[in-house]
Amino acid sequence: MNIAILGAKGMLGIDLSTVLQQHTLTLLDIGYGDITKSTELREILTLKQPHVVINCAAFTRVDDCESQKELAVRINGLAVADIAEICKDINAALIHISTDYVFDGTHENGYFEDDIPSPINTYGYSKLVGEKILQGEEIEGRKIDTQELKWYIVRLCWLYGKSGKNFVDTMIEVMKKNQEVKVVTDQWGKPTWTMDAARQIQLIAETLPESGIYHVSNEGIANRFQWVSKIKEVLALHTILIEGHSSDFPTPAKRPMYSPLVNTKLPPMRSWDKALEEYLS
Ligand SMILES: NC(=O)c1ccc[n+]([C@@H]2O[C@H](COP(=O)([O-])OP(=O)(O)OC[C@H]3O[C@@H](n4cnc5c(N)ncnc54)[C@H](OP(=O)(O)O)[C@@H]3O)[C@@H](O)[C@H]2O)c1
Repeated sequence: MNIAILGAKGMLGIDLSTVLQQHTLTLLDIGYGDITKSTELREILTLKQPHVVINCAAFTRVDDCESQKELAVRINGLAVADIAEICKDINAALIHISTDYVFDGTHENGYFEDDIPSPINTYGYSKLVGEKILQGEEIEGRKIDTQELKWYIVRLCWLYGKSGKNFVDTMIEVMKKNQEVKVVTDQWGKPTWTMDAARQIQLIAETLPESGIYHVSNEGIANRFQWVSKIKEVLALHTILIEGHSSDFPTPAKRPMYSPLVNTKLPPMRSWDKALEEYLS
């Protein structure tokens, strides 16, 4: 199959390229395949004629999105309309990557695919713009007809992987440099390895199920303290971990406190701690 990956040099994009290597891949990133330059993107994709386009390109620096809302909405939201129009014209399916941050983090049972999003920061709002566009809704002055398009919104959460700045690698560095480290106990989610997420996205790309929203995460819920405790255990580090609270670490963007994604449509993935053990081995 011929597959194009947008944002192919990002943390997820690189692991997707590995997992999908038996296919013919077109790897695009900001230098060649900027998703906000629709004419150039159309030329490339029309030339390559992919069967499936996977959009991993995004403005992912959550705190920076607060001060750069227009850019965040353009990259994470409005560009999705242009990508979708191109996919319709070349008859390609579109797998668009989204996030648990479209939710406010107040549901005590986590979030099902059809729960109504209610973002609490600009990044989450900008990603929701992309989701609504694919669902054919009008937002930010843009509306497109997606009935003729096979589209997939794939929400991920708490990603880590070897090719990008991520919480796991940051905490390993912090633990190696400090005798005591404070970690919050009040943020809950599903830590997810990009390789496992990529294999689940591969399944969608190869089977093209019904258009709609899909949740992809390793199974099991953890708070950040439990996550770091597991890293410490696997690596046999001697750092003392101290329980903290989000208010100890003020950030420009608010985070959803409890945003595990519930997957009711795809085969279940392995547990987050097993995936983490393999990542760290
Ligand atoms: N990381 C997480 O915890 C997490 C959680 C849930 C969902 N997600 C979603 O998962 C997807 C992949 O995230 P990731 O963690 O792999 O992020 P990432 O490492 O930041 O990758 C995103 C890539 O997109 C590129 N990019 C930015 N603007 C672009 C543009 N205008 N045109 C083309 N490429 C552009 C970035 O380039 P530069 O680096 O040069 O900007 C980067 O290579 C995103 O949709 C993100 O919203 C991530």
